Amino acid sequence: MSFLEIRGIVKDFDDTKVLQGLDLDVEEKDILVLLGPSGCGKTTLLRIIAGLLDPDSGSMTLDGKNLLEVPVEDRGIGFVFQKYALFPHMNVEENITFGLKVRKVGKDEIKKRLDDVLELVELKGYEKRKVSELSGGQQQRVALARALIIKPKLMLLDEPLSNLDAKLRTSVRVNIVRILKKLGITAIMVTHDQVEAMTMGDKVVLMNEGKISQEGRPKDIYFDPDNLFVAEFLGSPKINVLKVESGCMNGINVGKEMLSKWTGLDERAIPDGTFYLGVRPEYIAPADDGIKGKIEHVEISGADTNVHMELLGSGCVMRVSSGSVEYSEGNDVAVAFRSGSCYLFDSSGKRIR
Ligand SMILES: Nc1ncnc2c1ncn2[C@@H]1O[C@H](COP(=O)(O)OP(=O)(O)OP(=O)(O)O)[C@@H](O)[C@H]1O
Ligand SMILES: [Mg+2]
Repeated sequence: MSFLEIRGIVKDFDDTKVLQGLDLDVEEKDILVLLGPSGCGKTTLLRIIAGLLDPDSGSMTLDGKNLLEVPVEDRGIGFVFQKYALFPHMNVEENITFGLKVRKVGKDEIKKRLDDVLELVELKGYEKRKVSELSGGQQQRVALARALIIKPKLMLLDEPLSNLDAKLRTSVRVNIVRILKKLGITAIMVTHDQVEAMTMGDKVVLMNEGKISQEGRPKDIYFDPDNLFVAEFLGSPKINVLKVESGCMNGINVGKEMLSKWTGLDERAIPDGTFYLGVRPEYIAPADDGIKGKIEHVEISGADTNVHMELLGSGCVMRVSSGSVEYSEGNDVAVAFRSGSCYLFDSSGKRIR
């Protein structure tokens, strides 16, 4: 049995179907990262786990106990909200200890725990500061400390880093992982940030339309997607998807022999009818005798350069190291897919190869 076991959760808001029979397992001490398009039900799921919202049906157990029978305040779940909702008129100490006071924890115990969490989030000396007088990153750490001080069995983090600038995000991200791992706290974290998902998660879960589309270790999700939705959701720039219809691409006849040469797949492995060929930008490289295309746009993003091309009538992106070769808009280009790097999806988007 998993530490947190969620089975068949259904939740509708009037006529909006949000969660449609969702199952999820979270192992003890793991950080599970929840990803998915806006509106797919991530926050709704966290609110149900925390007890702020009741599901229409389904079951949940935490550490073997039926969660739905446990009142919110006894669930032992810490929550850092999407908008972290600190009390602006209270100081740091008052914000952090509020939950313990509500739970009638003794003064000495509160003092001790406060000292511990302030040290963890590196906010010693800020106790009396009003939160409105803190930077975004400091406020974020107060929100984290407020959730940690109750010694949660499970921590729910709903896009906790979304308000931070890029530099601060990286350092706070490292800090959160360090703290959760040090305390051995199981956590579910929602993020829109791919890098965050790949670097923070022991497990990544991708949600789509109220259901789990795929779950697994970050690298498995990235390198071994079950379907087109997952393949397209992860990766920046996005995976290139080329539609093939009875050996044609955008009306250009390419044939199985050519497709086999490009993908490195045996001719017999190339399906008849309609399918999609997926190849990530980092697996396309210039090759003199390769597929001919035209450069439409060049985007230098520091160490890497994204070369946007027209290839066989479709838009396609190749990612190369900056500075290696000069790429210019309007020039001809010839490229090849790195051997073994192509995915095939059937017409419904299911991975077949
Ligand atoms: N209290 C509510 N009443 C009615 N509809 C709601 C309510 N809360 C959420 N919804 C709807 O449920 C769906 C899922 O919302 P939810 O907040 O869980 O999405 P999300 O995955 O967290 O999205 P985001 O990434 O934008 O935060 C949305 O269509 C939303 O409009
Ligand atoms: Mg949300």
